[in-house]
Amino acid sequence: EKGGYDHFMLKEIYEQPRSIKDSMRGRIYPNEGKLQLGGLKQYEEKFKNADRIIIVACGTSWHAGLVGEYLIEEFARVPVEVEYASEFRYRNPIISEKDIVIAISQSGETADTMAAIELAKEKGATILGICNVVGSSIPRLTHAGVYTHAGPEIGVASTKAFTAQVTVLTLIAFYVAQIKGTVTTGKLVELLTELESVPTLVEKALKANDLIVKIAEELKDSRNCLFLGRGSGFPVALEGALKLKEISYIHAEGYPAAEMKHGPIALIDNEMPVIVIATKNSSYEKVISNIQEVKARKGIVIAIVTEGDTEVKNMADYTIEIPHADEAFLPLIATIPLQLLSYHIAVMRGCNVDQPRNLAKSVTVE
Ligand code: M6R
Repeated sequence: EKGGYDHFMLKEIYEQPRSIKDSMRGRIYPNEGKLQLGGLKQYEEKFKNADRIIIVACGTSWHAGLVGEYLIEEFARVPVEVEYASEFRYRNPIISEKDIVIAISQSGETADTMAAIELAKEKGATILGICNVVGSSIPRLTHAGVYTHAGPEIGVASTKAFTAQVTVLTLIAFYVAQIKGTVTTGKLVELLTELESVPTLVEKALKANDLIVKIAEELKDSRNCLFLGRGSGFPVALEGALKLKEISYIHAEGYPAAEMKHGPIALIDNEMPVIVIATKNSSYEKVISNIQEVKARKGIVIAIVTEGDTEVKNMADYTIEIPHADEAFLPLIATIPLQLLSYHIAVMRGCNVDQPRNLAKSVTVE
């Protein structure tokens, strides 16, 4: 049932080229620069008039939400707030009938997320779901939604569900952009054509596995780990840190790279691995300065770089290459090496990768 892999998690990591493809199948028409999301059709007017979009989720799904914020604000120009479902429901949040709430959940059973949905519903908002498990509770609570087609995810650490969620959020961002006319059809042709090639790029990113095994060997005895990223690389850093802590029990933190100097820099010494998303995009030069700050304090830098990069390679202790892609698609690709890194470290430490201690696949308590 593990398809020849040692663990479900590894199988699910390798399934991503397919699960990403399945999550966009039938929904994009790159040649025409068009998208179709059946579940949302009825809500076109609502999207056109929405003052803002509120995303509620927990854990990894919340990280996907942060990527969604970048994409929706960038392309659809609607303000987005991303909230931990648990915090949202215990405040007295200001919600109106013009708000659209998007709830993201792999299992569709997360108690905190369900409670947040109920609260927003009472206040008259339109609730949309992004779920993976068909027929679960959340799709039944929401007005409409878009399923991720990741297939069953058995490993407690979410991998393919995360990239499927990000894929669907990318589709929603482009879809709202199409409705609102904030992106030209020509640009959508370009974006959708590149989105269609993402599964191939993910396949290429998976080829770094052997190198990642060697890096894991060097990091496996670390007690702490810092993950840094800027822009949409920041949620990727958060997700990388969560993956490492939940399956390997190494303490890890994800930080916006520029925030390092406001505190965490005090932790850096020659025993501190710092994993940096340093791909060639708008924040490249700034990230390079952050790497210099880490190196000046003798931290161990593991950089995720764009294929062919030389500048970061000269500074970092280890570099992992990923194929070049538009900034919009970076999270889908840069997440892959971080998943593999956590996986191998956890295996080397003898951890129960698929069933980490104290964790359950769906968290049905509040
Ligand atoms: O099923 P959900 O997406 O609602 O679950 C949310 C979190 O419990 C989940 O993402 C959790 O953080 C995972 N163990 C992360 O790998």
